[in-house]
Amino acid sequence: MLDDIKGFMNTFSETMFMDVINYSLTRDKYDSMFLPRSKYSDLGKLNEVRIQDNAILVRFDGYDLRIQGTADGIIKFTWTDGPVMPVADPEFVKPAQDGQMYRIGNNTLSLESDGFSIMDGSGITMHREFFPVFAETITHSFEIHPGDMVAGLGERAAPLNISGHVFRLWNHDANGSYGPDSDPLYLNAPVILHGHAGKFTLLFYANAGDATVDAGYSNERRVSFSFRSKPLAYYIITGSLDSIYEKLSRITGKPYRPPYWAFEFQQSRYSYMNSREVRDLVDGFVSRGIPLGAVYLDIDYMDRFKMFTFDNQRFGDIGQLTEYMRERGVKLITIMEPSVKMEPGFELYDEGLRNGHFVRYPDGNVMYAPVWPEMAAFPDFTDANTREWYASKYDFMRSMGISGFWHDMNEPAIFVAWGDNTMPRSAVHSIGRHEEVHNLYGYYMDKAAYDHLSRIERPFILSRSGWAGISQYAWIWTGDTETSWKELKQNILTILHMSLSGITLTGCDIGGFTGSPTPELFIRWLQASLFFPLYRVHSDKKSKRREPWAFGDHEKEVIDVIRLRHSFVPHIYSEAVSSSESGVPILRPLFWVEPDNPVMMTVDDEYMIGDSMIIAPVVEEHAVARKITLPKGRWYNINDDRIVEGSFTMDVDLGTVPIFVREGSAILRENNGIELHLYPGSQMSRRVFYINNGNDDARVEIEFDGGNIAISPPKVPGIKSIIMHGFSGGDLLLNGETIKTGDGVINLML
Ligand code: GLC
Repeated sequence: MLDDIKGFMNTFSETMFMDVINYSLTRDKYDSMFLPRSKYSDLGKLNEVRIQDNAILVRFDGYDLRIQGTADGIIKFTWTDGPVMPVADPEFVKPAQDGQMYRIGNNTLSLESDGFSIMDGSGITMHREFFPVFAETITHSFEIHPGDMVAGLGERAAPLNISGHVFRLWNHDANGSYGPDSDPLYLNAPVILHGHAGKFTLLFYANAGDATVDAGYSNERRVSFSFRSKPLAYYIITGSLDSIYEKLSRITGKPYRPPYWAFEFQQSRYSYMNSREVRDLVDGFVSRGIPLGAVYLDIDYMDRFKMFTFDNQRFGDIGQLTEYMRERGVKLITIMEPSVKMEPGFELYDEGLRNGHFVRYPDGNVMYAPVWPEMAAFPDFTDANTREWYASKYDFMRSMGISGFWHDMNEPAIFVAWGDNTMPRSAVHSIGRHEEVHNLYGYYMDKAAYDHLSRIERPFILSRSGWAGISQYAWIWTGDTETSWKELKQNILTILHMSLSGITLTGCDIGGFTGSPTPELFIRWLQASLFFPLYRVHSDKKSKRREPWAFGDHEKEVIDVIRLRHSFVPHIYSEAVSSSESGVPILRPLFWVEPDNPVMMTVDDEYMIGDSMIIAPVVEEHAVARKITLPKGRWYNINDDRIVEGSFTMDVDLGTVPIFVREGSAILRENNGIELHLYPGSQMSRRVFYINNGNDDARVEIEFDGGNIAISPPKVPGIKSIIMHGFSGGDLLLNGETIKTGDGVINLML
């Protein structure tokens, strides 16, 4: 604590210092006065089981359990009610009794003396769980076995398989910098994937309060979730991995369809300090011909950190700046904070106070807490009117030419002298006490902006915090990561855990937030992030500059990677559109395609993009070679078109990015127009992709093998050529017509 205080005295003004002390005292006072510390009543003994309507009712002394299920592998257990969570129930079917068993859709449920088991259609036990224990917390456990895969829980700085570890579900500002093993982080999702003997089950708990997850740490045969608050309601989802995530998205919401430009390279820094600096930055990219989609303004653009203001001295000409950028095809994105500066006369504050939009203490007093603008009030985004009020202010930002919004500090983060760096647990929201709904604060801030902006256009919102289902409103980046080789590797896994929690629009601060990467680390970081939906360089105030030309002798290598990313934007975009249709995440671990191969469970430094490409980035310093592991099947090495299989070692100089395309895949590449690259297999393949043309997306179907191509619609706007890889020369049939081609790779003008 003393170190915390010393740190603060060095960083903040005297007023802020007093503010953080006062707030920490006030928070503790209210929490000790108003937080109920009751114990939950016991479960007691089981009295009755019967089918009523579309549910199985199981009556215990203390609780009535309702079990409902769909025809296709979702089973919901509702033990208690609690604050209303943003989830949608799927359509439930009537269960049927069969002795001690109950059939629900394609699953069978058996009631045992200490819990339940769920069997799939072939009678294999997919999930075994124990009756919850109601005490100071509510603990729900299920069984795991040695060697099982356990993953998910949102943003985790953990290994790919999290069994053997303990985690907390409490959205948390990592205090400016974090590395591997830091826990919890900014986004927690109560979603856990359990793999056993090649089959998977997913659990999603509709609870946004504080919880501990003991994933086989205290008892290697159990995963236990201990919730401090209600509700205890969860969904158990079975099926193939694709179908599991499709079903999850029916409950938590499907990822939205983002604008195309958001996938392009983005440059950020804390902070570009004035309009001149931003113009020079844009000129630097334009004059060198480096692709640039967007630039970010961090907190210093505001007038004393007041939301929806611009500092007059530094950004007085904001409208002209955005116009200058628009002419050059570059968007401007501003950081947004939930904190509203407590300053009578500041319109946003006065309005919020007058209309009761701010979070309060249980005695009705407005909750003030210090953050960037010093003492501030916080909108209660769980309230629909407050969301509409706050989001309507984004119109002003849009009228200044701002195209995207970066939601920071929305855990919410608060500056404290001691204790938890967030709101008091006793604070009151429209849907419950803060401790019960804490993990939804950022989620609802994102929803506010999304609901408003999506009436006009496809919004771009980048958020630090969130919860399950956040991809329907916003993108997530992994926050203030340290600059280190081990964090570079960790980032891949953190992003995969989000994927495995159904969160798909993700990325990181390329190069790490705190620190100055060597050119080698920076280039490898650019390469490792190549297929992350968000492709943004960002770093803190003390870091060295990270514009491509700041890397001296290595400028060309930096630019080459940015260009390589640019060439894949149509493909990543197409995968994002597919994901918005299916709910299946874009980035996946390798075990996705070969779930019954235990070797795939151990690959933690490669990832897949959709089901067609694998990147095996270099994440070790001074590496000149790396081991590659590929799932079964034949893969094209994208760099030389050679077919590779299995496990092998590859030379990797600083310019090499190992990327492999599965045979039978179609890849879109930008190269002054879109090229459609076909990688034929031995059989006919059928693929679907999406080409963006402004606000619409053309859905294109293609069937091909090494000699025939059928494409529908036959003329696809935007595609300039089709390139058949692994082709040995001769004629090709395109939609039934013979096309004369040369040898090897062929260009076909449509
Ligand atoms: C937080 C953000 C970081 C940002 C900084 C200043 O630490 O995570 O990205 O640059 O605040 O706004």
